[in-house]
Amino acid sequence: MKNILFFGGGNIAQSVIEGLIKSGYKRNNIFFIDRNTKNKKKLEKLKIKEFSRDKTDQISFFFLCVKPKDALNSFKEIKQLKKNAKVISFVAGIKSNKYIKIDETTKFMRAMPNTSSRYGLGITALFNSTFSIEDRKFIDKLFNKVGMVIELNKEIEMDQFTGLVGSGPAYFFYILKVYEKELLKMCGNDNRKVNEIMVNLLKGVSMSINYNNDLDALVTMVASKKGTTEAGLDSFKKNKLNKYFKDGLRSAVKRSKEISNEF
Ligand SMILES: NC(=O)c1ccc[n+]([C@@H]2O[C@H](COP(=O)([O-])OP(=O)(O)OC[C@H]3O[C@@H](n4cnc5c(N)ncnc54)[C@H](OP(=O)(O)O)[C@@H]3O)[C@@H](O)[C@H]2O)c1
Repeated sequence: MKNILFFGGGNIAQSVIEGLIKSGYKRNNIFFIDRNTKNKKKLEKLKIKEFSRDKTDQISFFFLCVKPKDALNSFKEIKQLKKNAKVISFVAGIKSNKYIKIDETTKFMRAMPNTSSRYGLGITALFNSTFSIEDRKFIDKLFNKVGMVIELNKEIEMDQFTGLVGSGPAYFFYILKVYEKELLKMCGNDNRKVNEIMVNLLKGVSMSINYNNDLDALVTMVASKKGTTEAGLDSFKKNKLNKYFKDGLRSAVKRSKEISNEF
């Protein structure tokens, strides 16, 4: 099993690390570097070792998992640790050529996972810039351990993937907050009950999609003429929920494109 290092041990690094551990990847083969005390503590609780410089030669792959503002400096720090480091960037927006400009010989690829990797249900897009076929295959296999993998042929597709899928879980959590509020009223503020209702409802939704990918047909199965569902759906339509949701998704994709020009 190869040694891997997460440079930046925040939200997404923790999700992928937890998913890898659940899939059988050995904790001993995972290291991290982070300056944030809270994140350090979380990783120490997961029994992940903080990286020590004497181990540099033993690290096969470095995952760059910092916010875009810290990305290029962190990349330089990795290169100072190990000149020929192989780097996989999780960073939204910033394109491969920005890193390759810093070191033209660098072995580099991009990955865009999402937080569902923690449960083995991740969706990770990969775009290879300069990795060898063998190394790319290893990374592909690694992310297959925490969910599904989508290989992108063009880097530009990464912006769409970032806005739609990388950010995806948050859209549904956000919308569910409205639902949760109404359920809490119905259940006398019983949080556990509401949580259970939401989990079962979403499990049912995901099983239904798995069983039948025709979303219109699934809606029709629930909504009857002049019934309650139809009243709800009509109100969504009248208030242009579709348009606002689409606008939100497009704003996220646009933001991913903008980030690249900011650094
Ligand atoms: N969150 C997601 O769902 C998700 C999904 C896909 C991709 N991504 C991408 O992954 C990247 C990380 O996102 P995140 O949500 O995991 O961020 P995060 O929770 O803020 O984690 C980043 C961590 O890196 C640390 N860090 C930054 N620069 C460092 C340095 N030079 N030395 C040591 N530690 C350093 C940060 O410390 P400080 O807090 O002190 O700055 C923080 O603990 C972003 O670029 C994002 O676009 C995120």
